[in-house]
Amino acid sequence: MSRAARVDSAHITPSAHYTGYVWYRHQLAEEPFVTPFGRFAHGVLAPVSWGARVAFGLDVEHFLLQRHLLIDALLREAIEQRGVRQVVEIACGLSPRGRRFCSRYPQLRYLEADLPPMAARKRLLLHEEGWLNARHQVRPVDILAEQCANDLQALFSGLDREEPVLVITEGLVNYFELPVIEGFWARLATQLRQFPSASYLTDLYPDLREHPRYRQLRWGIDLVGRLTRGRYYLHYRGDDAIVAGFQACGFGEVRVHDPKELEAAPADAWPALVRVVEGRT
Ligand SMILES: C[S@@+](CC[C@H](N)C(=O)[O-])C[C@H]1O[C@@H](n2cnc3c(N)ncnc32)[C@H](O)[C@@H]1O
Repeated sequence: MSRAARVDSAHITPSAHYTGYVWYRHQLAEEPFVTPFGRFAHGVLAPVSWGARVAFGLDVEHFLLQRHLLIDALLREAIEQRGVRQVVEIACGLSPRGRRFCSRYPQLRYLEADLPPMAARKRLLLHEEGWLNARHQVRPVDILAEQCANDLQALFSGLDREEPVLVITEGLVNYFELPVIEGFWARLATQLRQFPSASYLTDLYPDLREHPRYRQLRWGIDLVGRLTRGRYYLHYRGDDAIVAGFQACGFGEVRVHDPKELEAAPADAWPALVRVVEGRT
């Protein structure tokens, strides 16, 4: 059994309820994306978020919005300027992006995917609201699985191999140790090479030890790890290491985006802690 196969990541799923509520709070999602647990978790964590904001100038919701809005902007650019018409969002959770982009771009085919229980929940949500259709679907996937019904190959098998594809993960990669997530990236790059052109967008929290709020960030991520009953890892020491790491996984062209590129993203007194990586095969 491979190392990745021994990792079970179901403990991460509850965090999707929290982020789902944050997207709603910031008018990025409609009410059906809110769950009672998401609202509850946001309320329970509000004092911690407030403390981090007041004491250290670290705003958790800013981090989340920075990554979400930057991925949105890069996706819009891919659709409008590079003609991308099929998108796969892995670890979609309760994100409203698929719904928003399908409403805005009638030519778009959007496949959302997550671990089977979350995929079932998302499919039901979209179905009940009348948002599920031939263009907008949800499938089960486990990024750690190999050679089974929920692996990447099965997920990609229904796509049009004559068309460009764009894959997104958000809020996923830092929950895994680097060798485990690099294994996923290498398997993903193998799948993407079967398309005429393909790109991958993911947020990533690097290990920015020189950042003025590094100590507080480490404290925060230990808390995220404990709350999700796992660990939260920082990957790569900076932009150059990110590029080299993604290239070693099979992405020929890699760009690292900083939220400061985006006027609409909320800015803090500190340099941003999150990056969005764009890898092309
Ligand atoms: C923090 S949530 C992010 C959800 C959404 N992308 C967002 O930003 O709101 C992490 C998501 O990763 C999913 N996940 C965890 N392990 C996974 C795996 N092995 N394969 C696919 N998805 C996984 C969880 O079920 C959860 O929906």
